[in-house]
Amino acid sequence: MTWLITGGAGYIGAHVARAMTGAGERVLVLDDLSAGVPARLPADVPLMRGSSLDGGLLKRVLAEHAVTGVVHLAARKQVAESVAQPTRYYQENLGGLATLLEAVAEAGVERFLFSSSAAVYGNPDVELITEETPCAPVNPYGETKLAGEWLVRAAGQAHGISTVCLRYFNVAGAAAPELADTGVFNIVPMVFDRLTRGEAPRIFGDDYPTPDGTCVRDYIHVSDLAEAHLAAARHLSGRSGALTVNIGRGAGVSVREMVTVIGEVTGDRRPAVVEPRRPGDAPVSVASAARAAETLGWSARRGVREMIDSAWRGWLLHHR
Ligand SMILES: NC(=O)c1ccc[n+]([C@@H]2O[C@H](COP(=O)([O-])OP(=O)(O)OC[C@H]3O[C@@H](n4cnc5c(N)ncnc54)[C@H](O)[C@@H]3O)[C@@H](O)[C@H]2O)c1
Repeated sequence: MTWLITGGAGYIGAHVARAMTGAGERVLVLDDLSAGVPARLPADVPLMRGSSLDGGLLKRVLAEHAVTGVVHLAARKQVAESVAQPTRYYQENLGGLATLLEAVAEAGVERFLFSSSAAVYGNPDVELITEETPCAPVNPYGETKLAGEWLVRAAGQAHGISTVCLRYFNVAGAAAPELADTGVFNIVPMVFDRLTRGEAPRIFGDDYPTPDGTCVRDYIHVSDLAEAHLAAARHLSGRSGALTVNIGRGAGVSVREMVTVIGEVTGDRRPAVVEPRRPGDAPVSVASAARAAETLGWSARRGVREMIDSAWRGWLLHHR
């Protein structure tokens, strides 16, 4: 098998590339380097600089490298940016996916793995989100992921491609400091950023109907997530059809608990300040991890402490 990983120089993609090559799969990466960092990739993984919107390039790469499977991670991923620039998100996330699927169909590639997101669910009022929970995204980013799933399934049926859509929950941590996420878009780097500036962490709302009043999320170590891709890639081999699966730990952690563990890891235990709720935050978002265990034989192994320890080592490397 030869796998093309789009967005493979990104935070998650580089972990996937490493997990797959480590397991003996042949891997190459296509990335436009709009957010990717080539140095994240293992030395023996070829990197092609280019866009998922470039159909000619995609067809050439698939044919020249005799690609047999695609892991598609390349996308824009910032919710606020998607609200401000919806056409760009639809064009890049959905247009890029459609262009890639056309090239995949033409090249006769039979396996396709798509990075989806818990954002497809929106803010459902349930304790555990299963794959049957109705999808109702609340921003253009989530819409592009949901429409992307539909497109992947339809193209799979039309062209005989086996597909898996992985709905990631909240990703954190790093397999090595140099692979860490350098963006400041979610709670762990946001708290690190505040502490590094000598400011107190912020908690947005402590009056939610949750045990400590703060929002509860399902955090997943990026190394566990990378292993889920490997499990999904193996699942695709020799099977046909379409699978959609949540990738989370199936356990909730509150924002206040996260801030406490971050204080322990960084040694900076200054108390958080509580600010008003942010619009659009769901009180609870926790995955049911049952289908991933049943269908992929995969479950997360790493806990929150390991996520924050490893993320902090990465933060120190990039923010010295
Ligand atoms: N990080 C999370 O918590 C999270 C959660 C759910 C889903 N996801 C999804 O996982 C995927 C990877 O996310 P990430 O956190 O690694 O983000 P990232 O920004 O670090 O990685 C995305 C990579 O794709 C590349 N890229 C973007 N648009 C491209 C294009 N049109 N053509 C080629 N390359 C392009 C970027 O240069 C970057 O290297 C995305 O699809 C994202 O929506 C991420």
